[in-house]
Amino acid sequence: MNITFITSEAYPFAKTGGLADYSYSLPKALAKRGHTVNLFLPRYYCVDKIKYNCSLIDMPLAVPHNNGIRWSGIYKSDYLNTINVYFIEHDDFFGRDGLYDYHGIPYGDNAERFIYFNRATLEALKQLAIVTDIIHCNDWQTALIPLFLRTHYAHESIFKNTKSVLTMHNAGYQGVFPEDVLYYMQLSDEYFVPEKLSFYNKINFLKAGILYADCLTTVSKRYAQEIQYPDYGYDLAPIIKQNSSKLFGILNGVDYEQWNPEHDTFIPYNFSINYLSGKKKCKHALQDYFSLNKSNIPLLGCISRLTYQKGIDILIDTLDWLLFDEPEVQFVLLGSGEQWLIDRFENLRRLYPDKVGVWWGYNEKLAHLIEAGCDFYVMPSRYEPSGLNQMYSMAYGTIPIVRATGGLDDSVIEFNTTDITGNGFKYKNNDMAELYSTIRYALKIYNNSNLMQQLIYNAMSFKRSWDDAAQEYEALYKNIR
Ligand code: ADP
Ligand code: GLC
Repeated sequence: MNITFITSEAYPFAKTGGLADYSYSLPKALAKRGHTVNLFLPRYYCVDKIKYNCSLIDMPLAVPHNNGIRWSGIYKSDYLNTINVYFIEHDDFFGRDGLYDYHGIPYGDNAERFIYFNRATLEALKQLAIVTDIIHCNDWQTALIPLFLRTHYAHESIFKNTKSVLTMHNAGYQGVFPEDVLYYMQLSDEYFVPEKLSFYNKINFLKAGILYADCLTTVSKRYAQEIQYPDYGYDLAPIIKQNSSKLFGILNGVDYEQWNPEHDTFIPYNFSINYLSGKKKCKHALQDYFSLNKSNIPLLGCISRLTYQKGIDILIDTLDWLLFDEPEVQFVLLGSGEQWLIDRFENLRRLYPDKVGVWWGYNEKLAHLIEAGCDFYVMPSRYEPSGLNQMYSMAYGTIPIVRATGGLDDSVIEFNTTDITGNGFKYKNNDMAELYSTIRYALKIYNNSNLMQQLIYNAMSFKRSWDDAAQEYEALYKNIR
């Protein structure tokens, strides 16, 4: 099959979160299975054209926009050997610091930027004469493609046999804008009705994708269920439910070429399921990094966007209590995001300087060291469509402590001390007391070295590769064709 991924971020070119990991690893896995895979991204300022060996395609791209045409350049990169990577360059929209915002404040023209990107990718496919079986879009930023395929491009012979798939990575972000953005889409007021694009008197990009895509997916089975209810799907829940016959949940995977303690080049000591001494050394290296006491007391960690979704406020309240009660514990955090959460963590660090380590910003190397060096990894998410770090943690023998939601619930199995099954710890309610008692229970297991060894073994035996996920996507694509 010829499969085209359209996405607003992809590792290593531009990354703010797990969507970038997904947009790199799934195309790679599909290419490995013999498909021709194209990947389209905006050429943000951070995408270094020299480093990624980008060459300009010698033909400017005319993109219908607003009441006329706006020109773009298309760059092709051969940096990822098996995937055809294309960048749409339009500096007015994408030549900026930040993908979606400037220091946390969303760009005021995000609707216009992504309408343009959606339109430009379809024009680029036409211009490059790429006949594609599947266009796979991701999140609200590219959710207008299915709509455009059924409107502006409905009679284009090149898309005659093209089917569209929309993956919802996070229903908490829907792309909601005032009615006048219809103008940038070059669609008439006819589309501003509840059966089409209007949504509580606004335009909702994700809704457009849900209505017009041939198939919808999300990144775990549990989240596919959850988003049909208002607590997770918000106002879109009823529309998602109405379209549930075309909705499927496919759990994300782990790229074991990148996240593998046996040959991870970001960590100072390698280790494996049968040879764990390197893990202990990584723990000491991590303690050193944060100037914590180098001892064998349990070390908990977390790497996260600091937002409401991730339950970071609940984690801080819990740690406040735990660090006061329990002298034998340390905690490290790598994160970026909302300032009020950073301030609260800074307070905690001031109170417990020998037990708490924090690092603000994006740091890939440190992320690997945290996965390798911690004993436990905490993910207290209010909702988590898939989550990747709990699965990365397991690969490094770091035991996940998670709230049972979305992909966390689908990948973490509660440790059972009777039959020694399970790979982590889960709690149900979004509640500080439950998180506290789950951590206390995990610390109790830590003190029983036999049980702890079994648990580490179980976690490291967990496997969910991108090839597993790619096989499920492949079956879906075949079905909708
Ligand atoms: P989400 O996409 O909701 O943020 P995921 O668990 O799917 O959550 O993926 C997060 C990805 O981003 C992981 O690869 C994680 O290691 C990475 N990440 C998040 N914050 C940082 C950071 N501050 N520095 C380095 N990597 C980070
Ligand atoms: C989103 C979700 C996260 C998921 C990622 C990749 O950012 O919050 O749970 O793993 O997308 O699908």
